[in-house]
Amino acid sequence: MALPTKKVYIRTFGCQMNVADSEVMAQVLADDYVLTERAEEADLYLINTCAIRRKSEEKVRSLLGSLKVWKKRRPQLVLGVGGCVAQQEGERLLAAAPHLDLIFGTQGIYRLPELVRRAWMGARPVDVELAPCFPPLPRRQWLGAPLQALVTIMQGCNNFCTFCVVPYVRGREMSREPGVILTEASAFLAAGGKEITLLGQNVNSYGRGLPESVTFPQLLRRVAALPGLNRLRFATSHPRDLSPDLRLAFAELPPLCEHLHLPVQSGANRILQAMNRGYTREEYLEKVAWLRQACPGIALSTDLIVGFPGETDSDFAQTLDLMREAAFDQAFSFKYSPRPQTRAAGFPDQLPEEVKAERLTRLQSLQDELTIKAHRGLLGQVREVLVEGLSRRSPDQLCGRLRTNQVVNFPGPREWIGSLMLLQITEAHPHSLQGRPLEVPLTSQPLADRLPASPKELSC
Ligand code: 5AD
Ligand code: SF4
Repeated sequence: MALPTKKVYIRTFGCQMNVADSEVMAQVLADDYVLTERAEEADLYLINTCAIRRKSEEKVRSLLGSLKVWKKRRPQLVLGVGGCVAQQEGERLLAAAPHLDLIFGTQGIYRLPELVRRAWMGARPVDVELAPCFPPLPRRQWLGAPLQALVTIMQGCNNFCTFCVVPYVRGREMSREPGVILTEASAFLAAGGKEITLLGQNVNSYGRGLPESVTFPQLLRRVAALPGLNRLRFATSHPRDLSPDLRLAFAELPPLCEHLHLPVQSGANRILQAMNRGYTREEYLEKVAWLRQACPGIALSTDLIVGFPGETDSDFAQTLDLMREAAFDQAFSFKYSPRPQTRAAGFPDQLPEEVKAERLTRLQSLQDELTIKAHRGLLGQVREVLVEGLSRRSPDQLCGRLRTNQVVNFPGPREWIGSLMLLQITEAHPHSLQGRPLEVPLTSQPLADRLPASPKELSC
């Protein structure tokens, strides 16, 4: 078969789900397009968008605006917008951006080749249909020995947290069949992969609606048993659905990394209730305690929203208090942003921007203290690192992640990229650690030349 001569550039905004979707886009288009990292040489330019907060949406709109000039210079360029903003806005985007050739929603990625062909013919197609069942994902091929894989196990969400647009733009929860997931994961490991992250908006409710009765901890066990897997992670967990079985998985499955992302959102019961989160602060803290008991040394990260409608000073103080008690290693924190269709957007007592900004600053400085404290606790320890690439801080340093997810920089040659090795932690910084290699890795991997020079960009 002839190699494709046309080039596609994909700009990804948002979370890991979007990164995984962009990989699928590249794959479904692979018969006709090769992926390029240079936007200026693209024949097809796709923007995979995020609608979670207004700011993420604004970034997309501003990129789209700046591409008007490009399109004027190169009218043959096909410009498409996909993902959550496309799902939310549909036709409205076409009307607002006459230079746009194609709109595809969160499930349209599977129909991209046909949509792109129609766009080439000048049809300006819009595909924002949400299917009632999991669309058949193309069979992933793992060429070029990637080190880490994002494997989608489910999509959509039924939770309807009152602040969140996801159920509207990604549709109802749908799980992929375990057999399909295991085949994809095995192919990745056979190609030399080392780390798998299982992805879904709410992985703890994995399995509902599948013909075979299977829970998320059961799926984890099956994936963890695959030969050749060094590291297993998953995201995202809803605290309400965190089961004792999952706690056991942390204690029992060797590849499962000692890190859990468990978004709490707020530390005040009234706010948790108004958010429709389905747990109290006491229940959350109890789960944190039993996780730490089952898996001593587990690192916890979380998501927090400040300035939710009606949040008082005392509610906010309870959030700070919960952060101290849970001793989070890392937190992603956001000012509440009203989203279309969501219930909270219509709540009274929306807070002024200055209050949100002030609370965010206070919360982030507390988290900085907690993070540096956790980092200092690692000083002198010997830990395993997966060498992921060149350090952003300095070109003669490498960087990688501990099983507990902290970033470590350390001296070493490019040939070590792709290896697992032992390091001693020598310095603690607010956002990273510094390490000293304790060994030359046993298996040097021929990966160095195939990895992108800079790590994947994430804007979430
Ligand atoms: N405003 C601010 N933050 C939000 N998130 C989701 N929706 C909103 C919103 N409307 C945050 C939550 C979620 C993370 C992915 O984004 O903390 O866990
Ligand atoms: Fe959004 Fe809540 Fe679903 Fe997470 S669980 S995707 S916050 S609705």
